[in-house]
Amino acid sequence: MFKEEIFNKIKGGLATKLQLPEDKPEETIDSNLKALWFTAAGQPKSAEKAAGLPLPDITEQQIKVFHQLVEKRLNNTPLAYITGRQCFMDIELLADNRALIPRKETEILGRKAVDVCTRAALLKQEVKVIDVCCGAGNLALALAHYTPATIVNASDLSQEAVDLTQENIAKLNFGHRVQVTQGDLFSAFETDGFYEKTDLIVCNPPYISSAKVGKIHAEISANEPTLAFDGGMLGINLIQNLIREASKFLTKTGWLLFEVGVGQGRFIMNICENMQEYDKIESVSDNLGNIRVICARKK
Ligand SMILES: C[S@@+](CC[C@H](N)C(=O)[O-])C[C@H]1O[C@@H](n2cnc3c(N)ncnc32)[C@H](O)[C@@H]1O
Repeated sequence: MFKEEIFNKIKGGLATKLQLPEDKPEETIDSNLKALWFTAAGQPKSAEKAAGLPLPDITEQQIKVFHQLVEKRLNNTPLAYITGRQCFMDIELLADNRALIPRKETEILGRKAVDVCTRAALLKQEVKVIDVCCGAGNLALALAHYTPATIVNASDLSQEAVDLTQENIAKLNFGHRVQVTQGDLFSAFETDGFYEKTDLIVCNPPYISSAKVGKIHAEISANEPTLAFDGGMLGINLIQNLIREASKFLTKTGWLLFEVGVGQGRFIMNICENMQEYDKIESVSDNLGNIRVICARKK
């Protein structure tokens, strides 16, 4: 059989069996299978990258591996944890169960952060960025990739996430401009080197309420780290600390940018507006009109 025949036969059988995750719009039956095919062929790729490419040749032995990977996927292992890859803002990253799989929705925050850095770079040679709650390092690395003037310091409470970020930094050769440290929120940055010297703080925090965490789809809850989701009783514990503590690190007119959950935006904007530390509060919405990013400028 030709490879296309094998591929299409499996694809036909999978249409009713594979439940596609709603929070990963880049995943279709076709992109899942293509990513698994590439992985079995020894060329692992994310769904997004594999989707546009022709199928590579594959050996008999690799076809067996492909069948095993499909089985794994049908048993609800997230695609990115099988391929070991996830694409974020067109950058191919390493992914595994040490950290959250970077989501498409977070690209709204990533793009806004690139805008802020690009504007800051018009006025200064070096733009200093802190990425707290860095996970796999996707935001830190996207900022380094798209804005050459940035120096990024990332951190995460999870040592495992820090290790994965470190591997992504090495993979993309950004060791000279991106550093990562383990720490609770800003604890890694409590020095004069960071106070009032940071142009941008970026954060995709955990923001799901503890009650809702228990109801997340099994593919996510059984595989991705709970620490990445659980934002406490109302989902905003970490966000409240972030807003309160960030201003100490920001330069005058420096920006704090962070992602919020659907439905949280207006409430969190009110909190920011009632604080003396910030003089401009903005938001960015998704295509459906939901506020997904809040931007607060230090006075
Ligand atoms: C929603 S994930 C975001 C990961 C990544 N930045 C992204 O965009 O995919 C939240 C991250 O916050 C980290 N985290 C949770 N509580 C934290 C805390 N108190 N201090 C620092 N990081 C924390 C988790 O380990 C997780 O990696």
